[in-house]
Amino acid sequence: MEAFKALLIEQDDARKVSATLTRLASAQLDAGEVLIKVHFSSINYKDALAATGAGKIIRRFPCVGGIDLAGEVLESADARFKAGDPVIATSYDLGVAHHGGYAEYARVPAEWVIALPAGLDLLQAMALGTAGLTAALGIVRMEDNGLAPANGPVVVTGATGGVGALAIDMLAQLGYEVAALTGKAQERDFLRHIGAGEIVLRSEIEFDKARSLESERWAGAVDNVGGVILAWVLATMKRAGTVASIGNAADFKLATTVFPLILRGVSLLGVDSGYASAALRQRVWTRLGADLKPRHLDEFVRVIGFDELPGAFAAFIEGTVKGRTVVRILG
Ligand SMILES: NC(=O)c1ccc[n+]([C@@H]2O[C@H](COP(=O)([O-])OP(=O)(O)OC[C@H]3O[C@@H](n4cnc5c(N)ncnc54)[C@H](OP(=O)(O)O)[C@@H]3O)[C@@H](O)[C@H]2O)c1
Repeated sequence: MEAFKALLIEQDDARKVSATLTRLASAQLDAGEVLIKVHFSSINYKDALAATGAGKIIRRFPCVGGIDLAGEVLESADARFKAGDPVIATSYDLGVAHHGGYAEYARVPAEWVIALPAGLDLLQAMALGTAGLTAALGIVRMEDNGLAPANGPVVVTGATGGVGALAIDMLAQLGYEVAALTGKAQERDFLRHIGAGEIVLRSEIEFDKARSLESERWAGAVDNVGGVILAWVLATMKRAGTVASIGNAADFKLATTVFPLILRGVSLLGVDSGYASAALRQRVWTRLGADLKPRHLDEFVRVIGFDELPGAFAAFIEGTVKGRTVVRILG
């Protein structure tokens, strides 16, 4: 194998992080049973934190970025995969402690690899990526805890982000009434188009003044932002409501009381796509190619070239991105 292109994230002696397009030799690939020719990767908020150093989440420098990848098996020492199989791999240590998807080749442990599910092509799998897997995990966790369309509306925070937009589309097609909580008034039409029946603007609510119990509004919630917004979500849940806590785009802190939990029986469910069991991942990916496949997936995906990658992260840190960004790795 010739030297191949990769986005390598490094840290200097002053602990300054930089991400540079470079070439690596095959000997620099990490260990693993499956060698993959990468066709597509994607950008998640976590990738932007890693590549810019805005979040100290890389556990091993240098590291090829990219927590998601989709491609074709070139070699496999594991009987579950053979050359030519289309596969995906997301999270685990990818892009933070093991070379990730921003490279023409990746060698990964077989445990991290999932056969491309029926109903998806490689680009669609990356349009979903970790964001789609996480949105679906949140919905599955809520359903496993009793959420059903008849229970009432589901609110999605960080609505125009990758996880948020995918969650709205999935929930709407499952028959849920969906409310989108967003900071972007200009994206009302987009949010309605993908399935939101109600738009709640962040500017309309004084989150920091909310009491720990407010009027009951939501049967379910997908929260991507944390902080005072998650506290408000908890305060506005209906009796026996379920909240999937997914992200901290606003704040990692959560200051509230136990009242929503003990007086309304609200369940606060944690979602960790990074190390979800292989069995759960398989179950959720199978559904992502079937009943959870977003109807508007092809519409809210932007595909960028490998060379555009270094300049694409800032918008994620600034919170100005909309939908999903797929990176075309295969020339
Ligand atoms: N638990 C897991 O396994 C897991 C997996 C994937 C992602 N995540 C986390 O989930 C969150 C969303 O990920 P993503 O990939 O969808 O990110 P993203 O595409 O960057 O979207 C985040 C969205 O949050 C909103 N937002 C940004 N800054 C905000 C602020 N200061 N206050 C309130 N809202 C803000 C914005 O939407 P609006 O303008 O529409 O409000 C933004 O588009 C991130 O925190 C990410 O780290 C967790």
